[in-house]
Amino acid sequence: MERGRERFQQSCAFCHGRDATGGEGGPNLTRSSVVAKDADGETIGPLVRAGRGAMPRFPFTDAEAGELSAFLHTQAVKLNSEESQRRKIGLSDLMTGDAKAGAAFFNGTGQCASCHSPSGDLAGLKRRYGAMELERQMLYPEHARAMVKVRPQIEGTLAYEDEFTLSITDSKGWNRSWSKSEITYVVTDKAEAHRKLLPHYSNADIHNLFAYLETL
Ligand code: HEC
Ligand code: HEC
Repeated sequence: MERGRERFQQSCAFCHGRDATGGEGGPNLTRSSVVAKDADGETIGPLVRAGRGAMPRFPFTDAEAGELSAFLHTQAVKLNSEESQRRKIGLSDLMTGDAKAGAAFFNGTGQCASCHSPSGDLAGLKRRYGAMELERQMLYPEHARAMVKVRPQIEGTLAYEDEFTLSITDSKGWNRSWSKSEITYVVTDKAEAHRKLLPHYSNADIHNLFAYLETL
């Protein structure tokens, strides 16, 4: 499963999202009937090797497909139970947090203030997003883009990455691609902080933070 996770991050996450819940480039795999019916990569293997629609082909062995399958099943179970819990919590319960405690978490434990400013980038959040949407953005910011520096002096936002290839969109909007073996590069993904926080939130932290963000 851990090897599957790594492989998924390298080859699939760009389109299907790091947690496999889908992204701009590919559908949610935690709700896919193809994944649900798969055992040990029997279905996922041939699909991944053949490609499908906008999805490219990947030369993975049966064993590697089995690892991917193990990761996807784990994600499906985990996220679908988290989500059903969250749905049970419901919108009115979302509003039960304590904004003051949320502000304390924002400036303290959560270290949110090291990247965000309540009067700057987060000002007016409540007007930008509905409640459920705001909670989702707070947990999994979807507008986050990783920055890439290709040495010596090319910079841009990460557009695509797999084991062999790296593509960026530069400041003029041009896409550029390299074979990874030909370049040295550094990827900086600040929103990684959000994914690292996920296992550390208590339910109360989430409610309090949410109540605080609703005041901005
Ligand atoms: C460039 C984007 C892209 C990448 C990279 C990518 N996929 Fe996909 N994937 C898609 C798209 C788009 C579809 C939907 C294709 C269609 O049905 O036309 C899809 C469909 C799938 C499906 C079928 C889902 C369903 O329910 O029909 C599976 C399973 C899947 N991908 C697994 C993977 C795995 C595993 C990897 C990594 C090895 C991967 N994908 C990499 C874009 C991508
Ligand atoms: C290491 C930097 C970093 C830390 C720490 C961090 N974030 Fe973020 N956050 C980002 C990035 C990068 C984005 C995506 C880019 C953007 O939308 O500004 C983002 C996006 C968001 C968004 C969506 C904003 C929008 O306009 O769409 C919210 C809400 C948010 N973060 C809240 C938080 C909260 C609450 C914490 C603390 C628990 C936190 N962030 C900690 C980097 C960080």
